[in-house]
Amino acid sequence: MSEPIRFYFRGETHQVDGLPNTRTVLQHLREDLHCTGTKEGCAEGDCGACTVVVGELRGNELELKTVNSCIQFVPTLDGKALFTVEDLKQSDGCLHPAQQAMVECHGSQCGFCTPGFVMSLWGLYLKHEQDNVTPTSREIDDALSGNLCRCTGYRPIIDAARRMGELPKVSFDRAPVMDALRAIQREEPLSVTHAGQTFHAPRTLAQLATLRSELPKARILAGSTDVGLWVTKHMRDLGDIIYIGQVEELRHIVNKDGWLEIGAGVTLEKAYGALTEHYPQELTELWQRFASLPVRNSGTLGGNVANGSPIGDSMPWLIALGTEIMLYGVDGQRIMPLEDFYIAYQKSAILPNEFVQGVRVPLPRKDVAFRVYKLSKRFDQDISAVCASFAFRLNGGKVEDARIAFGGMAATPKRAALAEAELNGKEWSEANVKAAMLALAQDYAPLSDMRASSAYRMKTAQNLLYRYWLETRADAPLQAASVSAFVHGKNAAAASAAAAATSATAPQIA
Ligand SMILES: Cc1cc2nc3c(=O)[nH]c(=O)nc-3n(C[C@H](O)[C@H](O)[C@H](O)COP(=O)(O)OP(=O)(O)OC[C@H]3O[C@@H](n4cnc5c(N)ncnc54)[C@H](O)[C@@H]3O)c2cc1C
Ligand code: FES
Ligand code: FES
Repeated sequence: MSEPIRFYFRGETHQVDGLPNTRTVLQHLREDLHCTGTKEGCAEGDCGACTVVVGELRGNELELKTVNSCIQFVPTLDGKALFTVEDLKQSDGCLHPAQQAMVECHGSQCGFCTPGFVMSLWGLYLKHEQDNVTPTSREIDDALSGNLCRCTGYRPIIDAARRMGELPKVSFDRAPVMDALRAIQREEPLSVTHAGQTFHAPRTLAQLATLRSELPKARILAGSTDVGLWVTKHMRDLGDIIYIGQVEELRHIVNKDGWLEIGAGVTLEKAYGALTEHYPQELTELWQRFASLPVRNSGTLGGNVANGSPIGDSMPWLIALGTEIMLYGVDGQRIMPLEDFYIAYQKSAILPNEFVQGVRVPLPRKDVAFRVYKLSKRFDQDISAVCASFAFRLNGGKVEDARIAFGGMAATPKRAALAEAELNGKEWSEANVKAAMLALAQDYAPLSDMRASSAYRMKTAQNLLYRYWLETRADAPLQAASVSAFVHGKNAAAASAAAAATSATAPQIA
């Protein structure tokens, strides 16, 4: 039997009944509730006009995070709290500092993007509400990475991000929200049927496994940052849905036996946060450049891996490191190397009654030199044209085990077997690197598309291998730290060297 969806909204429990299961939170706000402060720009998670804050109980904490309401479905809000720009008005009618700072710094012109920016600023304000820490420039850029403005320019908005902390403080009272959320938590799975299609939200791994075997054709839904677009852009009918976001057993991050195990329900933001504790130099830049904060706040690492897009950012480096994927179903757990999981374009080795339980990422080893490089047209919020990762075991100037994986070069994320063979057991030298660069042309036949031409992809892939050699050779002048400093505009000398190594025209490998 269908039950109403319940979430906290405008100070009370809001109940929803009879909506299509893929009605987006944005459609519900604007068209059903007539709360039109939240805007629609792109309906695909790119512009941030629809940014809202979602609150969720995590133990004794209220976790608050910005998300794109245009690609989230209403039933995923069950048991959570929803805040929009209308919630920021103070009881005395005054603006919240996030809004007041935008006024004072002239952060708005036509105003269409403004509610989205304000909600991102509010998310940042809430993060530092209790610690009184002034956000860094990087943190401000990151908080605003998912918001686009066509008229104001970003400088006044960034000024507002700094200014809001100087204004008289406004505290957000979490207690009543948490009380209300406690009252609407469910013991049993949610099941909502509309027009013969059911949205299931199991709460345990066992319930999820049973459902999966009963409904092998149902669409598994995690953070909805891929699936949401299939509905809003491709008008696809999803049929029955199994939402994994309420399964606590999939939200673990565990460090054990040399692996970091990350459950399939862990958000990208948390997963990369944990991973960069182990790989700070290697993964921090990719973390910052992966989509935007609101996308990472809802999207999961498990969804990235399960979707297995040939241009997805996590697979190249996960494969280069030797990550294993954990699959689960009524018959139990199956573990395999991630590189064996991808069979063909959008085809994986998952069985109809299985789902992705998580990944096991190897922890750093001293003798393995690991790097990942993302090439895209913009720094943040852009999909890769090419994503390269290298993890070589180097011993006394020799390559003992070369692992190379690329995204954007084939129909699946794929290792470069021939280039690896060219290097294994050999000296880590310029001549051998150049031979391996040539071998890459036999490993891959990349496509031309709107992101890059085939020739660009091949040339930059080869040059990224050269860059990796520049950074890891025994007398390397160009270490990752200086390359990363370049990205943040602090080291001009490293900038030109790194840019030369990565450009489509250098070096010559004839
Ligand atoms: C604006 C925007 C920017 C983006 N930028 C990037 C980027 O820079 N780099 C990048 O790699 N990606 C990017 N993406 C894509 C997306 O965010 C990622 O692929 C994300 O990791 C998907 O995770 P999700 O939890 O949202 O998956 P969902 O959308 O919920 O699901 C994706 C697919 O995986 C399946 N699935 C999910 N979880 C499981 C599971 N546990 N078991 C089995 N199947 C499962 C679903 O059925 C579906 O087929 C972007 C998306 C948007 C909207
Ligand atoms: S409307 Fe553009 S991100 Fe949602
Ligand atoms: S103020 Fe017009 S789009 Fe930002």
